[in-house]
Amino acid sequence: MLQEFTALESSALAALEHVSALKDLEGWRVAYLGRKGSLTTLLKTLGTLAPEDRRAAGARANEVKARLESRQAEREAALRERSADALVDREPIDVTLPGHPLTIGRLHPTTRMIREITVALTALGFQTVEGPEVELDHYNFEALNIPPEHPARDMWDTMWLDYPAKNGQRPLLRTHTSPMQVRYMEAHKPPVRIVVPGKVYRYEATDATHEWHFNQVEGLAVDRNVTFADLKGTLYEFARRMFGVQRKVRFRCDYFPFVEPGAEMAIDCFLCDGKGCRVCRETGWIEIMGAGMVHPKVLENAGYDPKVYTGYAFGMGVERIAMLKYGIDDIRHFYSNDLRFLHQF
Ligand code: DAH
Repeated sequence: MLQEFTALESSALAALEHVSALKDLEGWRVAYLGRKGSLTTLLKTLGTLAPEDRRAAGARANEVKARLESRQAEREAALRERSADALVDREPIDVTLPGHPLTIGRLHPTTRMIREITVALTALGFQTVEGPEVELDHYNFEALNIPPEHPARDMWDTMWLDYPAKNGQRPLLRTHTSPMQVRYMEAHKPPVRIVVPGKVYRYEATDATHEWHFNQVEGLAVDRNVTFADLKGTLYEFARRMFGVQRKVRFRCDYFPFVEPGAEMAIDCFLCDGKGCRVCRETGWIEIMGAGMVHPKVLENAGYDPKVYTGYAFGMGVERIAMLKYGIDDIRHFYSNDLRFLHQF
């Protein structure tokens, strides 16, 4: 019996030497180690042996089985390695070939500009907050010192919403980010230093410099003893950060109902250094925002005592600043989804 095991072992190992492909290995396993394979068949005859012989034969059988299984595993590993090598020989991989380029997304120029503006202002101590795009007449106009029928309403052609009026108030799409001045002051005690980026809407025919939708950034600072000098100092520093340290600024009187005095701020043209060119329309100056000291009535409307607190506010058009900075000649490029335009940012 022991000899039979030995014979089986050597014939199985010899056969294994001839297995040269992975797919033939399973056939070999079935032939020797399978349920009807030679080893199994031989094992079934163990029962016919005398008990004293059976022991030695059983031990030998286990030995042979373990041996065959481990040699099978070795052979399998060797064959796998060989087939991987063959694959590489057949289809060599050139690791120096360039990969497939990934298309990388980018931020919209408006988003970039909003971030640049808010970062410059938060570095100066302002905190960014946002307000609703659907507003009430109260916040968009009345609380900002623009009563119904006031001629200044003509400054903001308004898109009214076709919703039922709430407390006698018809909702509208905000025409500027200024309403957030009042909303914020109502909800917070002074001191206030906020910057409010956001979308605004105007009932307007579009052309190269007008869109019915655009973005603004509003600023508001209120505290005891805030003066026009604070306004000038802050906005001067802002202009230097946005447009270069050598920038000059100019303030001129302007009218906005919610500030008194009101001003328009301009910087000397960064393209021609104030000499006069197409961008500054030969004036040497570029207007970049409206500003002023918060009107006492606005403070009062928001619940602040104008005898104790003063403040300044400013507002600018995001696309306008981007147009100046990047030399974009038509505001309609921003929202026409032309990739040739968008890819430039
Ligand atoms: N809200 C004004 C507009 O849309 C811009 C503006 C001007 C905002 C003066 C201000 C300001 O806060 O003080 O035209």
